[in-house]
Amino acid sequence: MDPGRRFAAPGMWLRKLCASIAGVLVLACTPALAQEDSAKAKFELCASCHNDNGISTAENIPSLAGQTDRYVQWQLVYFRSGTRKSEIMNPIAEALSNEDVRDLGAYIAKLQPAEPGAPSHPDLVEKGRTLAAQNRCAACHGEKLEGNGAAARLSGQREDYLLKALQNFKAGQRVGGGMAAMADVIYPLTPDDLPALAAYAASVR
Ligand code: HEC
Ligand code: HEC
Repeated sequence: MDPGRRFAAPGMWLRKLCASIAGVLVLACTPALAQEDSAKAKFELCASCHNDNGISTAENIPSLAGQTDRYVQWQLVYFRSGTRKSEIMNPIAEALSNEDVRDLGAYIAKLQPAEPGAPSHPDLVEKGRTLAAQNRCAACHGEKLEGNGAAARLSGQREDYLLKALQNFKAGQRVGGGMAAMADVIYPLTPDDLPALAAYAASVR
């Protein structure tokens, strides 16, 4: 037997023991930190389209920053099950575990939402404001359309994406959850109303 190895053995043991104690301490002391780091790592895949700060700069890609935790979780589950159709998001969501969905929801909700920009169609904002009051959008989406539980944040969202979402509801392409809240809302609205609502909702501060 190699004597060097024989004497080295206790040292090895000690080193392993220390490493494992250190590992336990690190885990015990910083579980919240570790979880946030892992959510951030999970979000890296999303950032290629939704950007690191969760504020999209691309047409028809929604901003996620400051979206409600519950809304994000539900949408990821709908994408995963195919209830909500998107060639892009369906395969991405299929790869997510329930834990991923929870981590991503919490992480996204904490990102600083986009400042509402100047609407691209300022002439439509007043019409949108009237329609929003008549149709009680704020009753579900919050006083400043900042989102509330399963009802999405609309404030600060991209106007092009909001219009697309409303058109998808109108066309019956997006059915949403069991309560189908938006189906009832969208039914009496005309296609002409939708750009006005999108312009207004995107601009609410
Ligand atoms: C290749 C680009 C791409 C990547 C990568 C991507 N997304 Fe998306 N995401 C989109 C597009 C496009 C939509 C809009 C789908 C639609 O039109 O209904 C979307 C929609 C969403 C929505 C719905 C937002 C809303 O307001 O309804 C959520 C939530 C979402 N993505 C989360 C994620 C998460 C989490 C990841 C990473 C795990 C991710 N996305 C990765 C392109 C992408
Ligand atoms: C009864 C409650 C309720 C009312 C009233 C309501 N909404 Fe919604 N809205 C919801 C819910 C819940 C969702 C999420 C639906 C889903 O799961 O797909 C939603 C989703 C949306 C979305 C999609 C957001 C995204 O990021 O994809 C838009 C846009 C929207 N609503 C606009 C409006 C507008 C504009 C009005 C007023 C004309 C309105 N809503 C009134 C409950 C409501």
